[in-house]
Amino acid sequence: MTEENFLSRKYVDLPEEGKVTWKAPSNIALVKYWGKKENQIPANPSISFTLDACATRTSVSYSKKDTDTSQFSFDLLFEGKPKPDFKPKIQSFFERIEQYISFLKSYHFKIETSNSFPHSSGIASSASGMAALALCLVDIEKRLDPSIDKVFFNRKASFLARLGSGSACRSIEGDLIQWGSHKTIHGSSDLYGIKYPFKVNPVFKNFHDTILLVHKGQKQVSSSVGHNLMHSHPYAERRFTQAHENLDKLKSILETGDLEGFINVVESEALTLHAMMMTSMPYFILMKPDTLEIINKIWNFRATTDVPICFTLDAGANVHVLYPESVKEKAIQFIKDELVAHCENGHYICDRIGSGAKKCN
Ligand code: PMV
Repeated sequence: MTEENFLSRKYVDLPEEGKVTWKAPSNIALVKYWGKKENQIPANPSISFTLDACATRTSVSYSKKDTDTSQFSFDLLFEGKPKPDFKPKIQSFFERIEQYISFLKSYHFKIETSNSFPHSSGIASSASGMAALALCLVDIEKRLDPSIDKVFFNRKASFLARLGSGSACRSIEGDLIQWGSHKTIHGSSDLYGIKYPFKVNPVFKNFHDTILLVHKGQKQVSSSVGHNLMHSHPYAERRFTQAHENLDKLKSILETGDLEGFINVVESEALTLHAMMMTSMPYFILMKPDTLEIINKIWNFRATTDVPICFTLDAGANVHVLYPESVKEKAIQFIKDELVAHCENGHYICDRIGSGAKKCN
């Protein structure tokens, strides 16, 4: 599919008003997206586990405007209160998607949004937030065009979410989502995420992700700045090739349930992401001393117990601890005994692989 497939028809007889609500989850990448071209086209393909507990719930109420359809008009409430600093992001999202959602200027929107995870947890809400908003807009479009089927619905929501925040396109469906063109992954696209099309061993179907909140403050360098630094990065091309190779490696690892292979790819991807940050110009470090303490403790625990527990990182200091259902008790005990001490105020979130976004009304 190309961008043209997502262009919106001009609708006549718009309904006067209505309301839709969606809850979309966050996701954690196994092979990381880091570096992009214009319009949130990824520099390399990525794959993620869709999460379950960490999610954004968004309601969009729409009422038809009588006059002035030359501007976007919306109110934004975050956890029940107006949130002016989120508005520019929504404004530029609307500008980017206008050609794909033709009724955007015909309505006044009231967008009410809240996260299941604490606001200042250092967990990015852009993926779940943009996914939830995109789903609401496609749902309104479906009301105008009931011929939109489930496959196109999810694809368009993923396509729009990508224009809001790249990794958001992996937060529509579950449980393993691949995004970005890859020559051996049939149906893969730079424009939207797809359900991973190959066989996945049951061991990867109920993985856990315990998120250790090492540092809850604002990151020193935003993801968009980090992505941009890949343009002039000395190792960029080799890194992009490596992501393609890692997706190839994962195919048999995921099919056979090879936990050792999985750990090698996933931990290497996390450290490579941070290595790219450390070797950018200007360079930066998002890990904290406690991030490294946790990594070392995980390595030590794995070496002495053979419990297949590993870590990944996103663009921040928090650590995602990944492990299969079969070792859940041992992993949780280890986390409580040894890792929670490294979390800010002892805070962590128990999450697991999830099945994707849900409609709430
Ligand atoms: O979607 P963005 O622009 O916030 O980028 C997210 C990048 C990482 O979280 C670091 C990796 C990924 O693939 O999710």
